[in-house]
Amino acid sequence: MKKYPLIIDCDPGIDDVLAVLVAHSKPEFDIKAICSVSGNVGIDLTTHNARLMAGLLGLDCIIAKGAEKPLIKNVLPATEVHGLDGFGGYSSTFSDDKLSKLSDLSAIEVQRKILMESNEPVYIAATGPLTNIALLLSVHPEVKSKIAAISIMGGGINIGNATPFSEFNYFTDPEAAYIVFNSGVKLMMCGLNVTLKATLTDMELNKMREFHNTISDITVKILSSYAANDAGIHDPCAILAISDTDMFEYKDQYVQIDTRAGITQGMSYVDEIHNLDKKPNCRVFYDIDRESFRKAIVKAINI
Ligand code: BDR
Ligand code: CA
Repeated sequence: MKKYPLIIDCDPGIDDVLAVLVAHSKPEFDIKAICSVSGNVGIDLTTHNARLMAGLLGLDCIIAKGAEKPLIKNVLPATEVHGLDGFGGYSSTFSDDKLSKLSDLSAIEVQRKILMESNEPVYIAATGPLTNIALLLSVHPEVKSKIAAISIMGGGINIGNATPFSEFNYFTDPEAAYIVFNSGVKLMMCGLNVTLKATLTDMELNKMREFHNTISDITVKILSSYAANDAGIHDPCAILAISDTDMFEYKDQYVQIDTRAGITQGMSYVDEIHNLDKKPNCRVFYDIDRESFRKAIVKAINI
């Protein structure tokens, strides 16, 4: 089977954890690295959670620490959704010997190295603020031709969760999102219009409960605390958009990001009627087959 080399750039974050689990469950992915970025919680916690997930899954990939704050704005954590530790309050259940080793290189250097040394194009799934990716593309533009696509969870079409118009990842670091959308790299975007449909029901949670393994036990726990605050299991969509494109409806569109201060900061504008006469810069995902999504999540937990 053809394997896609994959870098996961994330801010775990409960749904980021699910994204890692889904990528791990897909034989078509060769996970090269998991990189942390500041977002749902601070960088030390997102890095800890990335190391914990890799350790629990026995993943043989690089774990690297990324940017500790957005390019310009200050840190804006989402602890009310993800818990103070970003892991639903459960990270202290595991001892430090479960953690994967942390690379001496920064996330940006690790991504540059993987991309430049790869003989084939590499996918990047970005499920947190786009700070690391914007820095990578700005400091090392030579990597652009080595990227198959950047599959992003972020933005949305006329919908927001951080403000009425802006989604959390883009609102947290709008300048980074702007840089990425104007980079010329192939982009894929699962925004809130899709990810709020990516939900689970009690039926899936009950199925997961029956698996009785370390991963299923902790997943059910963290999902139960998460579901009370956010129904959308957003981040796995960015993984499935690469491996299971048929699960979605999508269209190539021209997208821009608003960086101006105010309630539209971080908003993704999709030029639906080609008003700007610009070439598409992003594959925008519009809809998801919920049943297939649910099956993919349950399968990912059945380890
Ligand atoms: C996004 O924000 C974070 O809270 C989630 O992990 C997801 O990446 C949803 O807006
Ligand atoms: Ca995230």
